Amino acid sequence: MSNMLEALRGRIAEAMTRSFGAAAVGADPMVTPATDPRFGHYQSNAAMGLAKRLGRKPRELAAELVAAARLDDLCLPPQIAGPGFINFTLRPETITEELRHRLADERLGVAPVSPARRVVIDFSSPNIAKELHVGHLRSTIIGDCLARVLEFQGHAVLRRNHVGDWGTQFGMLIAHLQDVCPEALEEGGSVDLGDIVAFYKEAKRRFDADEEFKARSRGEVVRLQSGVPEAVRAWKALCDQSRRQFDEIYRRLDVRIEERGESFYNPFIPETLNELDALGLITESEGARCVYPEGFVNKQGDPLPLIVQKSDGGFNYDTTDMTAIRYRVRVEKADRIIYVTDAGQAIHFAMIFAAARKAGWLDGARAEHVPFGMVLGEDQKKFKTRSGETVRLKDLLDEAVARARAIVDKKNPELPGKRRAEVADTIGIGAVKYADLSQNRISDYVFSFDKMLALTGNTAPYLIYAYVRVQSIARKGDIDYGHLDPAALSTLETPEELELGRALLRLPEVIDVVARDLMPNRLTDYLFDLSQIFSRFYTNNRVLGDPRQTTRLALCDLAARTIRLGLSLLGIRVIAEM
Ligand code: ARG
Repeated sequence: MSNMLEALRGRIAEAMTRSFGAAAVGADPMVTPATDPRFGHYQSNAAMGLAKRLGRKPRELAAELVAAARLDDLCLPPQIAGPGFINFTLRPETITEELRHRLADERLGVAPVSPARRVVIDFSSPNIAKELHVGHLRSTIIGDCLARVLEFQGHAVLRRNHVGDWGTQFGMLIAHLQDVCPEALEEGGSVDLGDIVAFYKEAKRRFDADEEFKARSRGEVVRLQSGVPEAVRAWKALCDQSRRQFDEIYRRLDVRIEERGESFYNPFIPETLNELDALGLITESEGARCVYPEGFVNKQGDPLPLIVQKSDGGFNYDTTDMTAIRYRVRVEKADRIIYVTDAGQAIHFAMIFAAARKAGWLDGARAEHVPFGMVLGEDQKKFKTRSGETVRLKDLLDEAVARARAIVDKKNPELPGKRRAEVADTIGIGAVKYADLSQNRISDYVFSFDKMLALTGNTAPYLIYAYVRVQSIARKGDIDYGHLDPAALSTLETPEELELGRALLRLPEVIDVVARDLMPNRLTDYLFDLSQIFSRFYTNNRVLGDPRQTTRLALCDLAARTIRLGLSLLGIRVIAEM
């Protein structure tokens, strides 16, 4: 019974069918965490819902429900309020008993889901030879967090990097490569092409300025697409160069992801298009082959197409995404497919999903787009360096770590150098991630080193500090949290003990919500709340040397472990001292 919300839902649903029979079957028990804890911990609006169905007064129904529900082991007698709300307050004994369980539970009361699903998460997905920019950073951080949460729940998660590694731009890149680094085209040749983004810019400059170069580029696209070994080797060299730069960022961010670039789906394009054609979903328009999902029109009211084959026979982003979604369902047997990209691609994905649904590919699977807003500078404009260049991720992470280092140097100069570097890394990278994840992802977010590294407020350093504080209590009292005996916990008593106990109990509910809504900020809000509650508890309740020491140490330990687990689901590590 570690998820109190679920337990209450179950009990109310049962009471509803027991008291009202068929009329209540399938009715929602409508239990939610209470917004005002003075009136209880949870609230149910079930009586209001039933009143509509049964044509009776909600307050009366609420009273009948309360009489019928078997809640004594969980709650104090429920209170009926206002037009018919039912308020539940957990018994201190119930809270304490659950904490006893958690003390010995690695998963802190979060049961693995059943049945587990197969979930594809398509995230990060930068483009070869282009900058891995702050938009990709958001996708990487958010996608990794969602993957961690769903993995923790026990789902089989396929982390997919849908790298932009195919397309006409490779023509000019290969042509340029032939001129500046012919060795790269030789068999077995592995070369360092240096800054691949600068390489891209130079190729593009030549492409725009030089007709002969442009013609050669077009020829190279054709050679690549028909598999000419030399062109393929050049393409591989370009991909390798970018991959090294991407991998360096993933390593620093501690993000695991499997590359399944656009090119991976090339062999499956013909069967995908054949199937769409056989289903009658392909319409020809000015030589191009299009799918028109229902309900999508442009400003003039004309239907919007997904172009699955261009008039020159070539394939594009739409083709690959149609092929990928089919592959994910048919071959990878995904039950849920999650795409994490900027909000600007919302229509693209809505159209892909609509077309896939029409083709019957989503009959047993759910596809979701997880959009996010832009990263802004402190001037509220698009995030740029002072000289107006796009910010390189490497520089951004370096600066976060350097600033964290300056803070650590000042706060704890006694810490040995190696430990200090580790702490700075954990805090710097953690702060960047946390700042991103703690925003409602839909809105644009203002990137501010000062704010994200602040030791107070809703930041990674504040949460990590709360964790460190608990560890230092143990050091001071020479305590080993691992040896606390659950049976030695006495029932929670003080308002702060109870508030903290209650907050700890919410973890399983919060994880459910994050997994359902794919909103990491629900988890950060919870952790911030929990840390503040812990802080109130610690300020007002003496721990070491108090007669209630064991119980309070257990609360400290559970708070720290809950924060550590929560942060780990955000992809953030903790440290024992700072
Ligand atoms: N490469 C794309 C970009 O940089 C993102 C790809 C997202 N995934 C997908 N299946 N379309 O915008």
